[in-house]
Amino acid sequence: MPEARRVVSIQDSTFRDPCLDPGILASDPLSISQITLTQFRNYEHARLVCDAAPVVITGANGGGKTNLLEALSLLVPGRGLRRSSLGDFQNRASDKPWAVAIELRTDTGPLLIGTGRDCAASCNDEERRLIHIDGKPARGQTILAEHIALAWITPDMDRLLAEGSAARRKFLDRLAFSFDPAHGGRVRAYEKAMRERLHLLREGRADPLWLDALENEMARRAVAIAAARRHMISRLSKAIAESGPVFPRADIDVRGTAEDLLEHQPALLVEDALRAAFARARREDAASGTCATGAHRSDLRVRHRAKNCPADLCSTGEQKALLIAVMLAYVRLLSEHRRMKPLFLLDDIAAHLDDFRRAALFDEILSLGAQAWLTGTDQAPFSRLAPFAQMLQVENGAIFG
Ligand SMILES: Nc1ncnc2c1ncn2[C@@H]1O[C@H](COP(=O)(O)OP(=O)(O)OP(=O)(O)O)[C@@H](O)[C@H]1O
Ligand SMILES: [Mg+2]
Repeated sequence: MPEARRVVSIQDSTFRDPCLDPGILASDPLSISQITLTQFRNYEHARLVCDAAPVVITGANGGGKTNLLEALSLLVPGRGLRRSSLGDFQNRASDKPWAVAIELRTDTGPLLIGTGRDCAASCNDEERRLIHIDGKPARGQTILAEHIALAWITPDMDRLLAEGSAARRKFLDRLAFSFDPAHGGRVRAYEKAMRERLHLLREGRADPLWLDALENEMARRAVAIAAARRHMISRLSKAIAESGPVFPRADIDVRGTAEDLLEHQPALLVEDALRAAFARARREDAASGTCATGAHRSDLRVRHRAKNCPADLCSTGEQKALLIAVMLAYVRLLSEHRRMKPLFLLDDIAAHLDDFRRAALFDEILSLGAQAWLTGTDQAPFSRLAPFAQMLQVENGAIFG
């Protein structure tokens, strides 16, 4: 068990704890040392200095707990843990552009990541977010994935295992992306080609050669996407098999046209099969306005092994426990695979977990050694973690240590 650490956080202050031992921190692979939020959601200006221990944030509904985790989730490419539009981050009471500045301790020294609204972009172009790494502008978001690994569990994911396949597929793609940063580009390229193909088909006067080229691009990308997903599933299954007994064992699998074919056939043959399937489906796709087959139809299947039951038939708490089991395995896998241990964000995590599972989760978090950020309305459920954590309160966009 790690030793207890003192809370050293204070809102809007440059305070640093003189007792903080830099020697201890140097051995922590990846953790946040400082965050400054400016006009971000309900935060006008807030600053937080923290050590590498887990951070527990409590406070009444609407205080800004999820907003704070959302700011941290912008450390990796994408639209954050709520998948928001960038315009939503702007504090509604201010015209000054929002910004998030985060200082990280990494094994190669401090790293400063800044992100925010691009003031140079026109008002209509609010989807651009600026990124600075150590003060230098970055060309795109993908570079963030090279520096930082991050995992999160949010209440929105409570229904992930029970609802439609799109959210599960995106979830699996996000996991794959943190091991293989090219995965995001493949998915975007596939979707772009698919949209173009549908547009041509709907117009009804498409040049067959042009369609061939788009279907070729889709087939190529779909096979690469399916292979990355299968690889992720195989790694994650191994990590789950090595997990402790407290959380239910999840059997995971990915099913889809390309994924299924790749089980028995080499990639080139699967590409051919997909190309042929796309060509055959032209008339049907033109009529339906959707693409009947492809990488955008695949699904992540999860089963509760002990109950021999699909996850969607499990109880809410059982589904949450399955999801936590998967995410704990994923965080362990990231720690082993990457040089740095990931940051782990757990929003409103105590909900639906019984005392036993909650205690087991906290023990796992401490043994993982990854800096975890946990939120909840009350402190009581976190009492087991409190001696080892930085306990903060959030109220009306202000953070108190
Ligand atoms: N762009 C914005 N500008 C100003 N306030 C915002 C903006 N976006 C969201 N808010 C407000 O921020 C407040 C805090 O939201 P947040 O989701 O962080 O609360 P929370 O502490 O997680 O609450 P809960 O316990 O209910 O989950 C909410 O009242 C919300 O309306
Ligand atoms: Mg919240």
